[in-house]
Amino acid sequence: MNKIITLARRPEQIPDEKDFTITSGPIPEIKQGQILIKTLFLSADPYMRERMDLSKSYMPEFKLNEMITGTLVGVVIESKSKQFSIGDTVYGFLGWQIYNVSDGTNISKVTNKSIPPQTALGVLGSPGITAYNGLLEIGKPKKGETIVISGAAGAVGTLVGQIAKIYGCKVIGIVGSDEKCKYLIDELGFDACINYKTSLNIKEALEKICTNGIDLYYDNVGNGLLNDIIELSNKKARIILCGQISQYNGSSPTINPKILGLMTKKSITMQGFMIHDFIGEKSERAIQQISLWIQQGQIQYRENVIEGIENAPKALIGLFTGQNIGKQLLKI
Ligand SMILES: NC(=O)c1ccc[n+]([C@@H]2O[C@H](COP(=O)([O-])OP(=O)(O)OC[C@H]3O[C@@H](n4cnc5c(N)ncnc54)[C@H](OP(=O)(O)O)[C@@H]3O)[C@@H](O)[C@H]2O)c1
Repeated sequence: MNKIITLARRPEQIPDEKDFTITSGPIPEIKQGQILIKTLFLSADPYMRERMDLSKSYMPEFKLNEMITGTLVGVVIESKSKQFSIGDTVYGFLGWQIYNVSDGTNISKVTNKSIPPQTALGVLGSPGITAYNGLLEIGKPKKGETIVISGAAGAVGTLVGQIAKIYGCKVIGIVGSDEKCKYLIDELGFDACINYKTSLNIKEALEKICTNGIDLYYDNVGNGLLNDIIELSNKKARIILCGQISQYNGSSPTINPKILGLMTKKSITMQGFMIHDFIGEKSERAIQQISLWIQQGQIQYRENVIEGIENAPKALIGLFTGQNIGKQLLKI
């Protein structure tokens, strides 16, 4: 039987398992030119929360009682297509279900056999491209500079920190648990880390650690920490607006308008970006370079794998309760 995850209702805050329904149905049949894909891994991504609301996302909202869609990796188990053979591993934008039918649109073959295929959803996929290009194309880090990263233990944040280390920066992570801080410092080589849930005064903690001020802020979270960062920033600091996960469940940060004056006086640049800004050559370069760094042992990656299609809602919800270290995946 096929199992399908649908949206049952629109959440008002952090999603609840009751916002989703799991339905069963027959395994779909394929026509000429189509393939049947059995899902191996589903990717849980923060932007999907915005698609659960009406008209918030840059992508169309999920419709009530219709299937959730997202990126996944799967294997071709039946083929009536000249492009794909049984056994091909594919990556694409499809439905949150065990069996998907495709005519080849929106999917591509996973050809790198030297690394597990689900990395196409993480370190060698959208988080990798986002981390690499957001940091290097927008942040332009230089040796000896200090970078602060929010959401530092997630799929994007762990990569940004490691790439910044390769570029010779002092790297400070902001995360929601001591376990995450320990991982970033002991295993990924971050210079320091602050647990924002237990730190009594994050600004004071940052001031102590960032003895030469802050040159770069890679913001995955979009909260009021931005006020403190700008106060502690050096002249010509760069702020990279990657994501605002703290706002996806409805809350708004308090941004002090005075930071605009400070940004002027310090000649600070703040720039947002979307992964789509880097389609083509820049995405390919990111994947090639990250693959090389992995082979050379300069980049490590971690996956937080939850098993079973019935736990797909848990995987998504976990992003907003901070359950993941590294890329949040659902294994079927
Ligand atoms: N611009 C783009 O094209 C693009 C592409 C991909 C991703 N993004 C953005 O990049 C960010 C990171 O994405 P990701 O896939 O790597 O997710 P992720 O960091 O792997 O997972 C989310 C993490 O965010 C933290 N978090 C959740 N709610 C929070 C809150 N209210 N305040 C502070 N931290 C919170 C949690 O860690 P803690 O335990 O530390 O709280 C959680 O583990 C997201 O904002 C996402 O939307 C942007």
